[in-house]
Amino acid sequence: MFTSQYLELFLTLETHPDRTLINAMIESPVPESELSLSPHAQVQTGDGSTLNVRAAGITGLGFYVPERVLTNDDLQRLGVDTNDEWIRSRTGIRERHIAADTETTADLAENAARRALEDAGLTPASIDLIIVATCTPDYQFPSTASLLQNRLGASCAAFDLGAACSGWVYGLVVAQQFVATGAAKTVLVVGAEAMSRILDWNDRSTAVLFGDGAGAAVVQAVQSGYGVLGFDLGSDGSGGELLKVVIDGEPASSGLVFPPADGHAAGAPPAEAPADQSTLDGASAGAVSTTPSLAPRRKIYQNGREVYRFAVNVMGESALRALTNCGVDPHNVNLFVPHQANVRIIDAAAKRLGLTSDRVFVNVDKYGNTSAASVAIALCEARDQGRIRAGDVIVTVGFGAGLTWASAVLRWGGQKSNAQ
Ligand code: UT7
Repeated sequence: MFTSQYLELFLTLETHPDRTLINAMIESPVPESELSLSPHAQVQTGDGSTLNVRAAGITGLGFYVPERVLTNDDLQRLGVDTNDEWIRSRTGIRERHIAADTETTADLAENAARRALEDAGLTPASIDLIIVATCTPDYQFPSTASLLQNRLGASCAAFDLGAACSGWVYGLVVAQQFVATGAAKTVLVVGAEAMSRILDWNDRSTAVLFGDGAGAAVVQAVQSGYGVLGFDLGSDGSGGELLKVVIDGEPASSGLVFPPADGHAAGAPPAEAPADQSTLDGASAGAVSTTPSLAPRRKIYQNGREVYRFAVNVMGESALRALTNCGVDPHNVNLFVPHQANVRIIDAAAKRLGLTSDRVFVNVDKYGNTSAASVAIALCEARDQGRIRAGDVIVTVGFGAGLTWASAVLRWGGQKSNAQ
């Protein structure tokens, strides 16, 4: 497990080097005018040396969901063996948005990214790095981040990040590291998913859970004491079999993207050329090929009960570790913005943190589980609804396939001029 040891840092401020003072500051925020405008904070590392880093936080947010809405009743009408009462009582989901046939993950990402840039008052020219967290990329390669970089007309580094539903929070922490060290001034972190493309509509245990959408954040230097205060990232690959994408018609234990072929060493060229030209034509025609030999239908497999058990534990525990890493008491959390998978999991985590429902943000009812997009969409919607104010302490938590988890504690606001 990778925790934010040295990032105890962001609370080890020049003017307030003590954790008790930080908690006091969170309870009654220091007026902006009294905070150092310097983006630098000198921090102690675990080995006793010091690091000069910048405080990094979110300076712009945007989200996008496709127009088409699929309600629980719609699913039943379409022939899924389910009903609204079951879905709502077990998950809290009422409806989800589904991408149009022509809409891909890059389209969703682009819409969210443009809104986040506008919100930050920036043009694509100022982006130094684009991270797209997704488990439904348009292509194996190029990355969706590179597609997005080209569409935006940005001139910067770009890569995809694969941590399933934890992906956007992982991306936020990666972005923070780039900004903290000064390696980048402006990072665009997008979570984008076309989950409907990997849903098996005959599997009621997964088909009712997911939706499509994208959320994006601009991460830049902010005033000391604001931005990402602490985090907790983790992975337990021994649970990888519990939630994965498999090939239709193959056992759930399969699903390798590049399986070693019988009679060939893995990676060796096939003995015979593909059967005919149409196979290749089909493969090159677009992002989703219908050619079975080259692009078998992929679908989600999930052991729901086991993932539920994992999620209920990890959500609260990871959030607590992130809070401990930056010395913030849970009772100082103004808003908990968790991964939107199941309202029962969210309620259990909130209980573990001792948070009342007015300090928990939930929108799973409208969007279902949008995987890597979910936390970013929730954060943006919470901000848009006035649930987040400058100085608030926010805790975000993601969990998902891997198994992975990721939490980040933020103190909202502290934006500096974009010129800095
Ligand atoms: O970001 C990805 C992380 N994934 C998650 O967070 C998912 C975690 N797991 C869950 O949220 C829950 O386990 C589910 C919502 C997936 C399932 O809820 P559950 O309370 O664990 O139900 P279950 O799997 O134990 O199934 C209970 C019953 C079964 O029927 P029997 O065997 O008791 O007769 C299922 O066949 O519910 C049945 N069932 C359904 N019935 C109507 C399963 N899916 C459906 C459905 N509609 N869609």
